[in-house]
Amino acid sequence: MFEVIPEDDHYPITYSELTDVAKQEQNDNARPAYVGEVPDLSQYSIIFIGAPVWWGDWPMIMYTFFENNKEGLAGKTLIPFSTHEGSGLSGFDKKLYSACPDATVLDGLAIRGNDCQNDQDSVRESVNAWISGLGYF
Ligand SMILES: Cc1cc2nc3c(=O)[nH]c(=O)nc-3n(C[C@H](O)[C@H](O)[C@H](O)COP(=O)(O)O)c2cc1C
Repeated sequence: MFEVIPEDDHYPITYSELTDVAKQEQNDNARPAYVGEVPDLSQYSIIFIGAPVWWGDWPMIMYTFFENNKEGLAGKTLIPFSTHEGSGLSGFDKKLYSACPDATVLDGLAIRGNDCQNDQDSVRESVNAWISGLGYF
């Protein structure tokens, strides 16, 4: 498991300030840096990639991740998932495929962030049902 963590603490804690910073990053087509790098991907064939929906898209830092790992992600099966507050998967699958055209991108799962906080039993059920339905596990 690899967590994409911003290199500096330029993301504000308060929600409205964060939305402004995120919007600016999107307008600038920014590629914020993250800490460390994912270990050798060659040992994996199926990779789940998830993030919160920010302004109807992947947070820009995820595009940094996709581009840094373009070679490593090529030829893999990628399975996207999102947390959101109404936008669902927000085209994460199509955008992931655009960023990684040499990968196979499967349908993803969208879960409400609020449910992750407050309704963990039902989220666990949804995730387990989704994972079982994929037929890998
Ligand atoms: C900058 C920003 C932009 C967001 N844009 C959207 C959006 O376009 N659609 C949506 O459904 N939720 C949006 N949200 C809500 C997040 O998706 C939600 O807070 C997140 O999935 C919950 O995970 P978290 O606890 O890690 O924030 C946004 C949140 C932030 C902070």
